[in-house]
Amino acid sequence: MPNRKLMTLDEFTIQETRKFPQATGELSALLRDIGLACKIINKQVLKAGLVDILGKHGATNVQGEEQMKLDVYSNETLINVLRNAADCAGVASEENDDHVCYDDEFSNNSKYVVLFDPLDGSSNIDVNAPIGTIFSIYRRVSELGKPCTMEDFLQPGRQLMAAGYVIYGSSTMMVYATKLSVNGFTLEPSIGEFCLSHPNIKCPENGKIYSINQGNTCKYDDGMKAFLDYCMENKKEEGRPYSHRYIGSMVADMHRTLIKGGIFMYPADKSSPKGKLRLQYECNPMAFLVEAAGGIADTGYGSVLDVEPQELHQRVPIYIGSKNMVKKALEFAGTKESIA
Ligand code: AHG
Ligand code: MN
Ligand code: MN
Repeated sequence: MPNRKLMTLDEFTIQETRKFPQATGELSALLRDIGLACKIINKQVLKAGLVDILGKHGATNVQGEEQMKLDVYSNETLINVLRNAADCAGVASEENDDHVCYDDEFSNNSKYVVLFDPLDGSSNIDVNAPIGTIFSIYRRVSELGKPCTMEDFLQPGRQLMAAGYVIYGSSTMMVYATKLSVNGFTLEPSIGEFCLSHPNIKCPENGKIYSINQGNTCKYDDGMKAFLDYCMENKKEEGRPYSHRYIGSMVADMHRTLIKGGIFMYPADKSSPKGKLRLQYECNPMAFLVEAAGGIADTGYGSVLDVEPQELHQRVPIYIGSKNMVKKALEFAGTKESIA
């Protein structure tokens, strides 16, 4: 047997399961299935420039946004792969109005539901910038043996079993978190497996990068404007001005924030009083991941993970990343009344 250095996603999740005698391994199987769907999506993303897959699909999704062909492809791939998955009763997607309940005998006895943003940052497809898939896994609260229900999907982020993302960037990576740890796996194309490359990721407590669509400044409140001034202030001894980086794909901006430290913000503003990003598909999974890595995710009126979801496509403001940077931003933003 050659001396193997690579540990695949599957091997890793099985080893993790062994630490907990009561664990049954369904979560490992589900992560493998999500990984499989993302490998299929990745294959299509890689040839996006070659085949006639670029461009608009011509339809709009539930939020009135244009869907790209790859959005549709990614959505269908995830729904179809998870239909055959080990332990998934149903899914909810940013691209569907309602949740999809698989409703067959096997699925009705499955313990988990999965939510996803099948293709995040889709406006970046045409310019070959990083895009991604974001996913969350909840344990069902509805009765086993029956079809899953909406309440399975409207659980607060605090109840997540696992969450993560796959980034289709200069390499393809899956990063996922359980309450215990956050680990990153890089796709090794020659064997088609995600392999452990970033064990036990910790989000640095401090950072030097702020990430926000600064073009919206005129729509921000005074607290937010003051924080941006603070980030740009010339205080060499304190490491300011900070650098500004904004890709416009949450997955890519958050991946950098997680690894290098920093803060990512999508605040409420005059035209989006509830913020833009979706609680159940984008904010909760990223908040769960960042908090498991030692960072903070806040809406400006409390932890993202404590928001009680009212509807599937709900939006919330978000300030997320390195602990000390987020705390500083919240000092400026002030504690706001709930606006969700
Ligand atoms: P999606 O492509 O899933 O609709 O998400 C786009 C999101 C998110 O990825 C990104 O952080 C944000 O929209 C960018 O919004 P602005 O263009 O308003 O900055
Ligand atoms: Mn998105
Ligand atoms: Mn999307």
